[in-house]
Amino acid sequence: MDQEPVIEFKSINKIYGDNVAVEHINLKIMPGEFVCFIGTSGSGKTTIMRMVNRMLRPTSGQILIKGEDISNLNPVQLRRKTGYVIQNIGLMPHMTIYENITLVPKLLKWPEEKKKAKAKELIKLVELPEDFLDRYPYELSGGQQQRIGVIRALAADQDIILMDEPFGALDPITREGLQDLVKSLQEKTGKTIVLVTHDMDEALKLATKVVVMDKGHMIQQDSPTNLLRHPATPFVQKMIGEDRLIQARADITPVKTIMLTNPVSISPDKTLQDAISLMRQRRVDSLLVTDEDNKLLGFIDIETLNNNYKQDLLVSNILNKVNFYLKEEQLLRDTAHRILKRGVKYVPVIDEENHLKGIVTRSSLVDMLYDIIWGNQDTEES
Ligand SMILES: Nc1ncnc2c1ncn2[C@@H]1O[C@H](COP(=O)(O)OP(=O)(O)OP(=O)(O)O)[C@@H](O)[C@H]1O
Ligand SMILES: [Mg+2]
Repeated sequence: MDQEPVIEFKSINKIYGDNVAVEHINLKIMPGEFVCFIGTSGSGKTTIMRMVNRMLRPTSGQILIKGEDISNLNPVQLRRKTGYVIQNIGLMPHMTIYENITLVPKLLKWPEEKKKAKAKELIKLVELPEDFLDRYPYELSGGQQQRIGVIRALAADQDIILMDEPFGALDPITREGLQDLVKSLQEKTGKTIVLVTHDMDEALKLATKVVVMDKGHMIQQDSPTNLLRHPATPFVQKMIGEDRLIQARADITPVKTIMLTNPVSISPDKTLQDAISLMRQRRVDSLLVTDEDNKLLGFIDIETLNNNYKQDLLVSNILNKVNFYLKEEQLLRDTAHRILKRGVKYVPVIDEENHLKGIVTRSSLVDMLYDIIWGNQDTEES
């Protein structure tokens, strides 16, 4: 069954005088998605968030929440559906932390005990002492205020959480902790989260879908993997950055793209004399042994031949088992390290039915890694 989007933008435009803040936004956000908006400053990210929360009205177009046009909802109905962390935290200075956290629950007329319990639960979540609830925002550091901003968005248990640069002013350690918290919360509760960030690492880490914005336009919306694989424009490439793209190449390159496809093989019913001739002729010190269907049976090498040589023996009599092999679809990321660590000279590559498809040699692997790490510099210099 087709699921209904939680949030749907239909041809949204927002225009201030001559200034087009966002134009032609069409986007469906499905239940449980974690959507990260990323883009240059002034590209319209905050504008989009504020329109979902109806702090701003679109100049034209429609925003639907669970199929309902939000222009038909009253503010209380809307707050019931969406929690919001605004850019620059936005705590009310004249209210205590407790009052700030329970702002929306109060609007929704929760009983006092329920509000208290919630506030205590949340403040624990971000590792701040309970007596902070009685303080005022100015009595907290910037990073502490930001943590309060994040949990305030979670207070009323809405299904949709909007977060506009919620981790901006945090040190890397606190930031990572809060990212993990939000991500695991989202996975556990199935909430739909829309988050604005300037930080590509944050977007790639958290998002199920990344939306790249430039000058009021949506340039690309895609999963983090697809974004890295197929950046739609040079602008997206620049946003991702060269380092990440190079890294991503190892992350997405399967073994089959770098393997040699003509491994020297021999059938098990050949004599050892045949094997030696073939090795001489092809200048290799090892042969893969395959049956008539090209299924991999084992290998023989100079050493086993030297140790076992007798005139009337066949390859099948002395073949060694292959203990280490690769599947053609495996990613280099997962295999390169193991190959290099084991110090083997080559590794056979097989398909799902054990057919021999190729080999990865240590030197081809080193070439490839060299290419990934240094390749771009070489081309620039030449
Ligand atoms: N009230 C306003 N009147 C006129 N122009 C506005 C108004 N609010 C925003 N804009 C313009 O709309 C565009 C989008 O602004 P927005 O705040 O959505 O950007 P942003 O992507 O959130 O940027 P940042 O990353 O700096 O937060 C900008 O060009 C901005 O100057
Ligand atoms: Mg903004």
